Amino acid sequence: MRVVSGIQPTGNLHLGNYLGAIRNWVRMQDEMAEGQECLFFLADLHAISMPHDPAELKRATLEMTAALVACGIDAQKSVLFNQAQVPHHAELQWLLNGTARMGWLNRMTQFKDKSGKNREGASVGLFTYPVLQAADVLLYQTTHVPVGEDQKQHLELARDIAQKFNNDFASDDAPVFTLPEPISPPQAARIMSLRDGSKKMSKSDPSEMSRIELVDDADTVMKKVKKAKTDPEPLPSESAGLVGRPEALNLVTIYAAVSDISVDDVLREYGGEGFGKFKPALAELLAETLRPISSRFNELLTDREALDAILARGASRARELGRPTLDATYAALGFVR
Ligand code: TYM
Repeated sequence: MRVVSGIQPTGNLHLGNYLGAIRNWVRMQDEMAEGQECLFFLADLHAISMPHDPAELKRATLEMTAALVACGIDAQKSVLFNQAQVPHHAELQWLLNGTARMGWLNRMTQFKDKSGKNREGASVGLFTYPVLQAADVLLYQTTHVPVGEDQKQHLELARDIAQKFNNDFASDDAPVFTLPEPISPPQAARIMSLRDGSKKMSKSDPSEMSRIELVDDADTVMKKVKKAKTDPEPLPSESAGLVGRPEALNLVTIYAAVSDISVDDVLREYGGEGFGKFKPALAELLAETLRPISSRFNELLTDREALDAILARGASRARELGRPTLDATYAALGFVR
């Protein structure tokens, strides 16, 4: 089993990232057998596919590293690094560009969402982004990729690239790449915006009120949850009653995910209650969960040298782990080196 996943260092870690992905990273790390390592990285190379500010990229890379450690990623157990210190990712992407098809990339919904109406003005990097993501996982013979629902399409593409490459350039008994499986938490694979239950909670939403950040203090969490969009109906007593009520469903899903119970369990307790009672209970639960994370985060941020050392050490290990697959890829393609 080889577990690999990444997160873009743009903005701050939010509840969607945490419940949809990072919490699973920590669980998988803690369940790993002796001698096995998970790899978790800051996708800083991906972050330049949208307009970006270099100073902000640096700040966000260090802060996101601190946030991951605060959430429970243990740099002694797992390999924690940023892509920019492991050139193998960009190298492998170029090699895979020969295998990835324009038609496959044209179908990626994230490209359509992020480029919007301005397709011609989008960066080439935004278009080829999923090939880099394929390189990220294929480089390490990854078997499992813990991600939220929105990344599943990119993982499908990574599988398609691996399969075509193996078919075209390797023999059946000695494939170059392993086909990775995405894994999403059953409940929290899609946490939605607090302002609009049809949009995912996202770092790039201009409204801060749309997301809970992991560093929000109790007052901020209370304010955001109280202002969260809802409907005037009380909560139903069964999950079927949440159909057509995306904002209510989202808040109940968050409550369920944070306390590790099912939506029906939450409704058994709060069915029939209005949001006037449910929202403060949710805000309190969230504040309690976030308190230890944000205090550890603030502590870690005071030691820049320690953060640099974590990333340098992780990158060195990642380079070592990625080398054999990168060499095998060059060899399969017929390069003289
Ligand atoms: P990113 O940085 O957008 O998000 C990091 C992780 O958080 C999950 N996530 C969510 N889950 C549930 N609800 C939400 N509202 C929500 N928002 C985000 C994402 O699914 C993701 O798991 N392209 C990736 C980064 C990446 C990567 C990779 C991931 C680069 N290379 C290789 C896995 C493997 C991204 O932009 O994630």
